[in-house]
Amino acid sequence: MYLSQKLAIKYFVVAFALFGVMIVAGLMAAVYYIQPQFLFNTLEFSTTKILHIDTLVIWNLMGFFGAVYWFLPDEVGHEVVGIRLGEIMFYVFCLAVVVVAGVFIFVQYGHANAFSLWFINQGRKYVEAPRWAAIGIVLVVATFMYNVIATAIKARKMTGILAVLIVDLIPLFVLYLDAFPAETNMVKDMYWWWWLVHLWVEATWEVLIACIMAWALMQMLNTPRRIVETWLYITIALVMGSGILGLGHHYYWIGTPQYWFGIGGFFSALEPLPLVGMVIHAVYDAGVHRMQSSNRPAFYWMFAEAFGNFFGAGVFGFMMTLPQINLFTHGTQWTVSHGHFAWWGAYVCGLISVFYIILAKARGAQSVNGSAWKWAFALLNIGLIGMVGGLLISGMAQAFYERALGGSTVQAYISAQGSSWFVEGMYVRLAFGALFALGYLILIYDLATFGKGRRVQQAEPPQSLAVGAHP
Ligand code: HEM
Ligand code: HEM
Repeated sequence: MYLSQKLAIKYFVVAFALFGVMIVAGLMAAVYYIQPQFLFNTLEFSTTKILHIDTLVIWNLMGFFGAVYWFLPDEVGHEVVGIRLGEIMFYVFCLAVVVVAGVFIFVQYGHANAFSLWFINQGRKYVEAPRWAAIGIVLVVATFMYNVIATAIKARKMTGILAVLIVDLIPLFVLYLDAFPAETNMVKDMYWWWWLVHLWVEATWEVLIACIMAWALMQMLNTPRRIVETWLYITIALVMGSGILGLGHHYYWIGTPQYWFGIGGFFSALEPLPLVGMVIHAVYDAGVHRMQSSNRPAFYWMFAEAFGNFFGAGVFGFMMTLPQINLFTHGTQWTVSHGHFAWWGAYVCGLISVFYIILAKARGAQSVNGSAWKWAFALLNIGLIGMVGGLLISGMAQAFYERALGGSTVQAYISAQGSSWFVEGMYVRLAFGALFALGYLILIYDLATFGKGRRVQQAEPPQSLAVGAHP
C-alpha cells in the first residue's frame, strides 16, 4: 500500500470521528428549538450551530483529501510527491481543529476587536474559525494542491480525471481566501461570502466529488474510463455553465441590483440538469449490475449519492430558487431542509461509499455484505429524510404564517414560531435526528469491524465486479 493511502485512511478516520461531533452538536442545536432554556448561558444555540456546520465543512474536506490521497497513486502508478509534508499537514490540521473546537466551546465570544478575529471567531457562517486557524487551513490546502500537481508532473502522467481535478483545485484554494473578512460594507461582504459558500459547495466541491466518484466507479464497477470521463466533462460543463451565474439566487435580498432576479432565477433553474444526468447514469449502472456488487454497501451508498444529490440539491433547491417563491421561503426552515438534503446527497453519501471501498481494499476483503450496513443505511437515510420532512413542514408554516399572511413583521416571525405546525416540525426533526444518530453508531461499528473475519464471504466474486478490480 502506498504511503499516501495510509494517510488517506487516517484522514477518513478523523473525518468520521468529526462526523460524530457534528451529529452531537446538531442534536443539541435541535433541542434548543424545543427547549430554549437548554444549556442557556453555558453553551448557546449559536455555538452548537457553529460547531455543527463548521465540523461539517471540515470533515467533508478531510474526506475529500483522503479520497484523493487514496485514488491518486493508483491513477498515476506513483507514490504521492511530498507525502511527508502531507502527513505533517494532516497533524497540523487535526491540532488546529481541536484547538478551534476548544475555543468555540470554552471561550465562545469576545469583544468586537482584532483580537477576537484572530483568536476567537471570524464570524463568517460555515467558516467561523479564527484567523490563525484559517491561515493554517490555507497552508493545508496549498500543500494538498502541491502534492497533487507535483505527483502528476513527477509521474509524467495526465488523465482526464486528473486534469479536471487539478483545474478544480485552483478555485477550491482561491475561493477559501474569501473566508477572511475584508469588507466593512455589509452588502459587499455578503456578496463575496456567497462566492465562498455557493461556489465552493455548488461548483468546486461538485466537481471534486465527481472526480472522486469517477475513480470509485472505475475501481468498484469496472466502468470504462472513457465513459466516466465523458460524464465528468458533461457534468463540469453543466455545473460551471449554470452554477457560476446560478449564484445569483443568493443575491436577491442582500441589497444587490435587481437584475440578479432574472440572472439568478434563470441560471439556478438550470442547475439541476447535471444532477439529472448523474441519476440517469446511476440507474443505468445499477441496471447493468442488477444492483449486485462485491462491495454492496459502497454500491448502495453510491446510488444514494446520485439520488440524494438529485432530490436534495436539484428538486429541493429548485423548489425555492425562483425569486417569486424565494421571497416567501428565504431564510426559513425550508432552506435548512434543502441544506440538509443537498449536503447529505451530494457529499456525505459519496464519502461513506468511498470509505467502504478504501477499507475493503485495505483489509483485503473479497466481498462486503452482512446486516449491519443495511441497518446503518436504512436508519441514516430514514433519519435524514424524516428530518428534511419535519423541517419542510416548519418552513412551510413560516412561509405561510410569517411571510404570506403576517407580512414579514417581527411579530409575525415570533407568532409563526409558536404555530403548532412549526413546533411539531421541530419535534419531528429531533426524533428523526435521534434515529439518524443511531444509524451513525451502527455505521461506525460496521466500518470498524467488517472484513475482520466475521462477515467476510469467501466466495470469489465475478471478476468484473471484484472490489478494486481495474478496467
Ligand atoms: C451540492 C449542491 C448543493 C448544496 C450542498 C446546497 C446547500 C445549500 C445550503 C447549505 C444552503 C443554505 C445556505 C445558508 O443560508 O446558510 C442553500 C441555500 C440555497 N440553495 Fe442550495 N445547495 C446545493 C444546490 C442547490 C441547487 C442546485 C439549487 C437550485 C436549483 C439550490 C438553491 C438554493 C437556494 C435558492 C438557496 C437560498 C435559500 C434561501 O433563500 O434561504 N441549491 N443551499
Ligand atoms: C442528528 C442529525 C442532525 C441534527 C439534529 C441537525 C440539526 C441542525 C440544526 C438544529 C441546525 C440549525 C438550523 C437553524 O439555524 O435553524 C442545523 C443546521 C445545518 N445542518 Fe444539521 N443536523 C443534523 C445532521 C446534519 C447533516 C447530516 C448535515 C449534512 C449532511 C447537516 C447540515 C446542516 C447544514 C448545512 C446546516 C445549516 C443550514 C442553514 O443554516 O440553512 N446537518 N442542523
